Amino acid sequence: MKNRSFFGVIGLGVMGKSLALNIAGKGHTLSVYNRSVKGEEAVVSDFLEENNDMQNIKGFVSMSKFIDSIQTPRKILIMIKAGTALDDLIKVLLPLLSANDIVIDGGNSHYLDTKKRSDFLKAYNINFIGAGISGGQEGAKKGPSIMPGGSRSSYENVAVVLESIAAKDKNGKPCCSYIGPDGSGHFVKMVHNGIEYAEMQLIAEMYQILSVFMSNEDIAKVFEFWNKGESSSYLLEITTNILRKKEKDSYLVDLILDKAGSKGTGSWSSKAALDIGVPNTMMNAAVFARYISSYKSLRKLLSKQVKRRQYRRVEISLAVLEKAYYFARIINHNQGFQLIEQASLKYQWELNLSEIARVWTNGCIIKSSLMNELVRNFNTTTSLFDNRSIIKDLNVNEDAVSEVIKYVVSNRIAAPNFCAAYNYWIGITTNQSSANLIQAQRDYFGAHTYNRIDAPLDVFFHTNWK
Ligand code: 6PG
Repeated sequence: MKNRSFFGVIGLGVMGKSLALNIAGKGHTLSVYNRSVKGEEAVVSDFLEENNDMQNIKGFVSMSKFIDSIQTPRKILIMIKAGTALDDLIKVLLPLLSANDIVIDGGNSHYLDTKKRSDFLKAYNINFIGAGISGGQEGAKKGPSIMPGGSRSSYENVAVVLESIAAKDKNGKPCCSYIGPDGSGHFVKMVHNGIEYAEMQLIAEMYQILSVFMSNEDIAKVFEFWNKGESSSYLLEITTNILRKKEKDSYLVDLILDKAGSKGTGSWSSKAALDIGVPNTMMNAAVFARYISSYKSLRKLLSKQVKRRQYRRVEISLAVLEKAYYFARIINHNQGFQLIEQASLKYQWELNLSEIARVWTNGCIIKSSLMNELVRNFNTTTSLFDNRSIIKDLNVNEDAVSEVIKYVVSNRIAAPNFCAAYNYWIGITTNQSSANLIQAQRDYFGAHTYNRIDAPLDVFFHTNWK
């Protein structure tokens, strides 16, 4: 076939279409494929018709013709639902591909599945890149943040496309960078989402706190004001818009059922933290807050059975709340980056935290002014707690968080993420914990042994407690 395309995209769902347009818009010749099953027969033809001004896109419903239309070694981005559908697709693709082709999975796949797929395809000399892509539909079209993991040489072959479509950081560099081997790109994207869950939950908690004495419009004004300063973030910005959206005379947010959904990456992050042994209390609390919200009928029933104190409609100082918010965000980001750092050590990925923060400064859901600060911080350290001025800030703002917690307790508001931030900070800065008693209990019922403070740590003791 003459005039083969430089790049291919499989899957014209919302994200696939937006990425395809972004790629073609950057001047790359492109082949796109979508299956022609019931209900999807016209996806490719409609896409071509809607974008008939883009002469560099060819569309296919035949997989073999699609594969044949791409220059070798082929570079193909798959944008379909993560999970078994992807494995089924790989089985169809495999006999059609040639050695050295590069297949990129741009979905939210689990990093261990990415490693398995990569090993499987390696046996056939097919290169596999697991790329986390953040930014939603808008980001995909205008410039997402991209986190590709796999072999460096395969990345270098597709970098020209991925870097051209990515968002740009404040210095004009693409928010796409080689992350590391195996499933590290998907791991990093998973942690991005874990941080995202906790950031969203913190804003939701503040919304509930402020709703005690403020209207949606007034809360929007507060968030809008904060968004001009050091608290600014994409999530705060969209929340301002959400709070102002009206449907006839009502605020739309007041009409939305308070049951939060989740697709899995938040709980995967929490599970990874549990497995690796990193205390990621904030993403954990955020995942569980969503789960509690999903028990709507039980909440409705029980809410009628508990004795309610009257809201006192006392106001909390906005300055105090913003300080507590800053404190909780530092803890959240540090926990997220610690999870990445520990995974990097465990799997020998040699991940660069500063570069990951840079990739997250634009295009993604957790972009913020804080992220720009973190690029600098992680240049010299792998933990924010090594930075004396951050410790000083946390120390100073500790009182603000305890004020917020007193406030939520007296107003009967659940604020699991502010509490998680506070408890983590108190725990990690307390020299003498209660774990001596835990060790005694373990030894009492299970002869698990313990260390003593007056003996070397390689000596283990057991007591006959009875
Ligand atoms: C992004 C988002 C995106 C998405 C996830 C999380 O970075 O663009 O994180 O990946 O919003 O699907 O979704 P849930 O909240 O449904 O788990």
